[in-house]
Amino acid sequence: MSHESTLVTQRHFEYLAARTVGDDQFLKQLRADAQAAGIPAIDIAPEEASFLQILLMATKARDVVEVGTLAGYSAVAMARALPRGGTLRTIELNPRHADFARRRIAASDVAELVTLFEGDARVVLATFATHSADAIFLDADKAGYSRYLEEGLRIVRPGGLVLVDNAFAFGQLFHELPTDREAPAVKAFNEIMAKESRLQSVIVPLGDGLWVGVKR
Ligand code: DHB
Ligand code: MG
Repeated sequence: MSHESTLVTQRHFEYLAARTVGDDQFLKQLRADAQAAGIPAIDIAPEEASFLQILLMATKARDVVEVGTLAGYSAVAMARALPRGGTLRTIELNPRHADFARRRIAASDVAELVTLFEGDARVVLATFATHSADAIFLDADKAGYSRYLEEGLRIVRPGGLVLVDNAFAFGQLFHELPTDREAPAVKAFNEIMAKESRLQSVIVPLGDGLWVGVKR
């Protein structure tokens, strides 16, 4: 390489995580209770949540859409970065996850900002108005990503953000025989993002890899 790139190791991740605003008591409890309730512990990393907040604050985002609520961790984190009167619309397919997240969000400090839509994002996103969001965050079934991206590009205003989790395919990006059945879908989606001319995007190596794109 003709330019300098430092290989980011586990130690670098630990180093930066130790120097990032971490979870407060509410988010720690949310993670612990979700795990105890049998919800997969696949929420985004605290440093990734902090970065999402920084992006939303820096761009003065007001209206955000999320695909894949899971337990509500990222919804609460992102809503906290919005101004008063801001909105966060989050979509969850799994009724058990939606039920958990709905209660947690209601008990959070950002309950008034967040609306949970229970159902298939393919159906719900179609009901959202064009250019009605400043940012969209995709963190759901990977086979659906290309479809969600297409809808996201309609819903997000020009200059808005398209953010997508798991660009590193759960750590299996370079595995020849990945054990995760969604890993091939992530790889295919990464190629779509790399070629998507309506966005200027880069993978930020936080958590399991976060695509950050600006809609041109
Ligand atoms: C999985 C999904 C995610 O969104 C994530 O962040 C980690 C893992 C999964 O489906 O395995
Ligand atoms: Mg994810």
